[in-house]
Parts: sequence; C-alpha cells; structure tokens
Amino acid sequence: MWDSICYLNGEYLKLQDAKISVLDRGFIFGDGVYEVVPVYQRNPFCMDEHLERLNRSLEAVSLQNPYSPDGWKEIIARLIQSHNAENQFIYFQITRGVAKRDHAFPENIKPTVFAMSSPFSPPSGKILEEGVSTITTVDNRWLRCDVKSISLLSNILKRQEAVQAGVLEVIMFRDGLLTEGSSANIYAVIEGQIIAPLKDNRILAGIRYGLMQRLCDTAGVIYAQRQVSKAELLNADEILMSSATKEILAVTQVDEKPVGHGTKAGKPGAIWKKLFNAYQQEKQLQCGTAPAFLA
Ligand code: PDD
Repeated sequence: MWDSICYLNGEYLKLQDAKISVLDRGFIFGDGVYEVVPVYQRNPFCMDEHLERLNRSLEAVSLQNPYSPDGWKEIIARLIQSHNAENQFIYFQITRGVAKRDHAFPENIKPTVFAMSSPFSPPSGKILEEGVSTITTVDNRWLRCDVKSISLLSNILKRQEAVQAGVLEVIMFRDGLLTEGSSANIYAVIEGQIIAPLKDNRILAGIRYGLMQRLCDTAGVIYAQRQVSKAELLNADEILMSSATKEILAVTQVDEKPVGHGTKAGKPGAIWKKLFNAYQQEKQLQCGTAPAFLA
C-alpha cells in the first residue's frame, strides 16, 4: 500500500513520502470535503456525478474548486494507471489549507489537495448470499449531513457501535425517522416499492442514492421518496443499503431480528436482486465489466 502513487498539491509521489503540515486545517479542524469513486476495469464509475457532488460540498463550505472537471479526471486517470489493480477506489479530498490555528477562515491560503487510489474488491460471495446485519441507533450528527465533509467523528463513532455489536453497519433514525447508515444510504422495500428517505440536509445524497431511481426503471420496480418511520422500516419486506464500496446490498438482519416476512425472512429478497443486477448492468455499460448477474 505505502509504495502506491498518490497526488498531493500538484505532485505525484509515493504514499509513504506524502507529507502535510501539522497546521493543515484538515488535520486541525477537519475543515475539508472529500469524494470516494469506485473504479472498475480501470474506468471510474459515475465520475461526473461525483465531481458535481464535490462542487456542491465545496460550495457549502465556501471553498473554491481548485481544478476543472477535466483537471480532476486527468489526475485520477494518472493514479488509476499507476496502480496495478483493475478494480480500485479513488479517494480525494480538499482542505482549506495551512494557516495559524484560528477558527475563522484565513485569507489568501491555498487549499491542500490530496488523492489516492486503493485496490477494491466489489462485494461477492457470502455477503451477497446472506446479506448484512445491522443495528439501529439514534442519529445525533450535525444537520448538514448533505455535505461530504471530512469531519467524520460522529460517523466513525456510529460505525464503531456497529463493530462492537459484531455487525456491518448502523441504521440511524432522527426523531424516529430513517436517515441513513454511518457510510451508506438505506432504503425500505414496502409492498414491492423502493422507498428512499427524502433528499435533504439529514442525509448524504449518495451517488447510488441518485442512481436508484434510474436503476428502478431498468429493473421495473416502483420508486418513491418519502419519510420512513422506524416502525415501518422494521416491518419492511426488504431493506437495501448502497454506497460506492458496498454497491447495493441486502440488509437481512436489524437488531438481531430477521428482515422480512414468512419463509423469506432473513434472506436477501427478490427486489434487492433486481436492483443488484441493474447496478451490475450499469457497471457493464459504463466500465465494460464482465456480466456478473445473479440468477
Ligand atoms: N461513504 N451516506 C454516507 C454518510 C456516506 O458516507 C456514504 C458514502 C453514502 C453513500 O454515498 P455514495 O453512494 O456516493 O458512496 C451515504 C463513502 C463510501 C466513504 O465515506 O467511504
């Protein structure tokens, strides 16, 4: 890992040689934003959507985008080529830069730009056959969850709750309403429909959250966006989870109870399979991956 090539402020260098100042506001305050883009067969997936979200995050925290979309694509292409894995995920972040410690924005400083690529294994095997287990918890994060901020303390504390409970993710509720996971979007399947929580400041509009409606069209599944109560989610026929690295997974257990009803309870469901296959088809179209459909 350490000898892979990364990008830092205009230079390409080994990850182990990349250094930033201890006064970087990313380090001191978590003052920055980031993106995570999956790469299949060396082709980034939904790159334009990720760059558009980056713009929205930067604007929300009054940072200028240091590069044009083509500038970003050039950096990312070079990182992908320098890596030996076919499937990768690109992480990139922009912080406000280096300055004397003061909460207020410093004037005339250059943002710090960092990007790296890591090998990525798309979910396969047991996680697809069995689905994933989760626990529920209260969402007590800040109220700008729509910003993809590097200040992730609340999210990592939530993820650690999941680790301690021996499950993959948490499912969070604010005022009794579904928001999302610590690093994934969550959807309910009720009476054959996919219900996504509202796109507002309480959740990150994931790139897969944005894609979901189109995938539902491809898969012939009805899609709706509305608030979902905890009781409704716990009684859902299926629960789905999506993120850049998780793709689309079936949640088959919540708080040690199986999701769903009857003989299908606790097993990945038919709607999940349709959406999973629609996602694989999209990967094939955009990135030329080999077909990886579930029967
Ligand atoms: N996380 N919600 C939160 C809080 C997230 O951190 C993420 C992604 C998502 C899903 O967004 P997308 O479909 O664009 O990956 C939703 C990334 C993968 C991470 O922090 O590593």
